Amino acid sequence: MSPAVGYQPAAVPARVATPRTYLMCRPTYFTVTYAINAWMDPAIGVDTELAIAQWDQLRRTYELLGHTVHLLPERPGLPDMVFAANGGFSVGGVFYGARFTFPQRADERPAHLDWYERHGWPAVRPGTFTNEGEGDFTYLPGPDLVLAGYGFRTDRRAHTEAAAVLGREVVSLELVDPRFYHLDTALFVLDDETICYYPAAFGAQSQDLLARRFPNALVATEADALAFGLNAVSDGRHVVLSASAIDLIDRLAGLGYQPVPVADSELRKAGGSAKCCTAELRR
Ligand code: ARG
Repeated sequence: MSPAVGYQPAAVPARVATPRTYLMCRPTYFTVTYAINAWMDPAIGVDTELAIAQWDQLRRTYELLGHTVHLLPERPGLPDMVFAANGGFSVGGVFYGARFTFPQRADERPAHLDWYERHGWPAVRPGTFTNEGEGDFTYLPGPDLVLAGYGFRTDRRAHTEAAAVLGREVVSLELVDPRFYHLDTALFVLDDETICYYPAAFGAQSQDLLARRFPNALVATEADALAFGLNAVSDGRHVVLSASAIDLIDRLAGLGYQPVPVADSELRKAGGSAKCCTAELRR
């Protein structure tokens, strides 16, 4: 039977992209020589050349989508510096700087602070309490809300401090599964109003809170989460994410988003994917 005249396929809303500005750091010195999360194993070899090629593809992808990418100069001896998301968190021209949990990454902190200072950011505020920047903080423009994770890396006192520094409500969410040790491994912002997350990564109260506050959220599966599918970067329309998150890629497409799969085999060995490499600059 042919469709009736005027037949429309099931309506999916038009998804609108807005141009973004990102900060990234080339993985020139990337390797895995220590283990500070459940994914890292120094015994597994890392192909640094391939990591650089995958990272280059990610950077070019953002540029092809019309976004602006700034580069933080990489420093030798800081193999995790490629995970630029962890250096701090910004909203409305205010940069709240990270204070790393592990000594192996401590020297990344001044590099980030220095970059924002040099680029004339109106307010650069080093964090007093342990926090890993966009790894554990994300921003939802619609309700003008900051979502923040704690449990493995970021100290809850940093949530309070960030709320004061950024002048915004911060919703604290407890992470309970060591495989999803940063908020950005378990939740991402799809568009101004919508989040996508993997509920079991969160404590019971945080799961309730998320379900109540975000009844329209896209709920991801464990397979999506294990494939680093939640470590995604969305501009409201295009969703850049690990090519291995095959279920989530299908579902996003069905909802009218445009998934943009990227290869991430090497960065995954350090416990990160697309989002970890990307700090959004909300100036
Ligand atoms: N090896 C890094 C660490 O454990 C990975 C950081 C991933 N970054 C992120 N935003 N989730 O600190």
